[in-house]
Amino acid sequence: MNFEFNETQLMIQETARKFAEDELLPSVIERDEKEEFPREAVKKLGGLGFMGMMVSENYGGAGLDTVSYVLAVEAISKVDASTGVIMSVNNSLVCWGIETYGTEEQKTKYLTDLASGRKLGAFALSEPEAGSDATNQRTTAQRNGDHYVLNGTKNFITNGANADIVLVMAATDRSKGAKGVSAFIVEKAFPGVEVAKKEKKLGIRSSDTVSLSFTDCKIPKENLIKEEGFGMKFALKTLDGGRIGIASQALGIAQGSLDASVSYSKTRKAFNKPIAEFQAIQFKIAEMATEIDAARMLTLRAASQKDAGEDYSTAAAMAKLHASKVAVQAALEAIQIHGGYGYMKEYHVERYLRDAKITEIYEGTSEVQHIVISRALLQ
Ligand code: CAA
Repeated sequence: MNFEFNETQLMIQETARKFAEDELLPSVIERDEKEEFPREAVKKLGGLGFMGMMVSENYGGAGLDTVSYVLAVEAISKVDASTGVIMSVNNSLVCWGIETYGTEEQKTKYLTDLASGRKLGAFALSEPEAGSDATNQRTTAQRNGDHYVLNGTKNFITNGANADIVLVMAATDRSKGAKGVSAFIVEKAFPGVEVAKKEKKLGIRSSDTVSLSFTDCKIPKENLIKEEGFGMKFALKTLDGGRIGIASQALGIAQGSLDASVSYSKTRKAFNKPIAEFQAIQFKIAEMATEIDAARMLTLRAASQKDAGEDYSTAAAMAKLHASKVAVQAALEAIQIHGGYGYMKEYHVERYLRDAKITEIYEGTSEVQHIVISRALLQ
C-alpha cells in the first residue's frame, strides 16, 4: 500500500490550502453570519479547475483523480465548509453524473460550463416525504410528445438558489417504485421552475439551501439521462461519489478543529503553564489526531478504489460514516479545549461544530450509511 501523494496531488493540496487562506478565511465569519453565498470565490475556484476537478479536459475539466479532489475539498473545508459543500455538489453529484451517464450532446451543452465554473449545478433528489426513503418520489415527469412535464417540490437543495442547472429525479411511472424514477437535466431558467423557500440553517450558512418547485415545467426529451427508470440507480451511484466529497468536507472540519486546538493550547496559560502541558488536554489532542487519521485513510481508500475502477460504494459509506462522526467529536472537543473562548464566534470552533453536524445528515444520514455497509456484508 502506498501512502505517498504524487507531485500533482501535493500541488493541488497546496493550491487549495493557499486559496482557502487568502480568499476564504478573511470573510468566513462574516459570510456565515450574513448567510452570504461566496459568489466571487466560487468563480475563482472555477478558474482554478476546482469546480470540475475529475471531469476530462475535453469537457472543460481539470482531468484529475479522486484523491486530488479529496485533498482539495479537505483543504477548502478546513477554512470554510460552506464553500466545501458547494464545490462537492458541483463536482461529485452534478459533473460526475453528467460525464458518466450523459449523452455526448448533454456533455457538450451542459458539462463544459459546469466543469469550468461558468455555471453552477445542484442535485434534486430529496422531497418533503422522500429523504432517507429516496424512492418515494412524488415529483412526476409525464411524457408529452417531444418533452416531459415536470410537477412537484424538491427539498433541501444545496446550491439551489444560485444554480443554473439542476439534476432532478422524478417519477415517470409511480406504479414501478424505484424502477419508475427517471433523472433529468433541468435548466433553472425553464418556465415553471421556482425557488420556493430559502432555508435558515444551523451551519454551512453561506451555502444556499432551498426548496424548488416545478409547475408544468416542460423539459425537452433530450434532457432525460440515459433512459426512463434509470433515475434511482443514477442518484444512488452518483451519491456514492458524493459521500467521498462529504467525508472530505468532514475531514477538513475535523482537521481545522485539531489545528485550532493545538495552537490554542500552546499559547493559553492556566495555573502558570500552557494548557498543552496538562494531560487532560494532551489526551484529547491525541484522540482527535488518531481518529482524524483513521477517517482520512478511509476516505483516501474510497477515493483510490474509485480511481482504480473498483466498487467503492461500501468504502464511501464507511468513509462518510466515520469522518462525519469524527468531525462532530473533534469540533466538540475543540470548543472544550478553548473553554469560554470556544463558544465565541471569533475562534471559529463554534462554527466548526455547527458545520460538522450536517455531515452526519446530508448525502445519506449515518443511519443510511449503516444500511449500505451492513447490506454489503450480509447479502
Ligand atoms: N449504485 C447503483 N444502484 C444502486 C445503489 C448504488 N449504490 N444502491 C442501490 N441501487 C439500486 C438498487 O439495486 C435498486 O435497483 P433494482 O431494484 O433494479 O435492483 C434501486 O437502486 C433501489 O435501491 P434499493 O432497493 O436498495 O432502495 P431502498 O428503497 O431499499 O433504499 C437506501 C436504500 C440505502 C436507504 C437509499 O434509498 C439511500 O441511500 N437513501 C438516502 C438518500 C440520500 O443519500 N439522499 C441524499 C440527498 S442528496 C444531498 O443530500 C445532496 C446535497 O444537497 C448535499
